[in-house]
Amino acid sequence: MKTPHFNIREANSQDAERLHQLHTASVRALCSGHYPAEIIDGWLSNRRPEGYLPGIERGDIFVVERDSKVVGFGEAAPGKIIAVYVDPIAGRLGVGSAIMRRALEKARRGWQGPIHLESTLNAESFYERFGFRVVQRTTVQRNTVAVPVVVMELDCIQPMASTAKAEQGK
Ligand SMILES: CC(C)(COP(=O)(O)OP(=O)(O)OC[C@H]1O[C@@H](n2cnc3c(N)ncnc32)[C@H](O)[C@@H]1OP(=O)(O)O)[C@@H](O)C(=O)NCCC(=O)NCCS
Repeated sequence: MKTPHFNIREANSQDAERLHQLHTASVRALCSGHYPAEIIDGWLSNRRPEGYLPGIERGDIFVVERDSKVVGFGEAAPGKIIAVYVDPIAGRLGVGSAIMRRALEKARRGWQGPIHLESTLNAESFYERFGFRVVQRTTVQRNTVAVPVVVMELDCIQPMASTAKAEQGK
């Protein structure tokens, strides 16, 4: 059984540079098995640290720290999970699950309906562990490229049981 020792806190503007680095490294390392290089290059082009500031200012972005180093971040708002990214050097240690627990809390705050997200192809089975189901396979435009994604939904009734099941499996 894994025993995670993570600190989760709201992101602030000083995290923007690290969020940018981590996001880029995470996509390049962990999504590359499911997307061709030209899609990943197009997806990541024109990204800048400043792009994270609006989400930080809204209070939607939070970070996970291990030994005072940011090893993952999430972004969520009522009814939706926007981002879940883990540093590739900290993969499969429970960081993603810790992000999901906090993201689901934020997504449920003041929200009674289903929760939506757009999953990368590589993360589909990760989200299924939390009770999400596939609604649609589609693409989203990122700069010059159409990135295939999976639209997923979590029913409002189902989540606690599913999350508990995912957690029992740790
Ligand atoms: C998907 C991601 C968030 C998972 O983070 P993580 O910290 O490795 O996840 P956890 O350690 O909490 O894993 C929990 C369980 O999810 C499942 N899981 C995690 N990554 C998986 C993957 N790539 N494929 C299949 N199952 C996966 C496993 O069952 C794992 O449990 P196990 O290690 O005991 O088998 C991470 O790989 C990532 O950041 N990927 C790149 C960015 C991305 O695609 N994010 C989603 C954007 S919508």
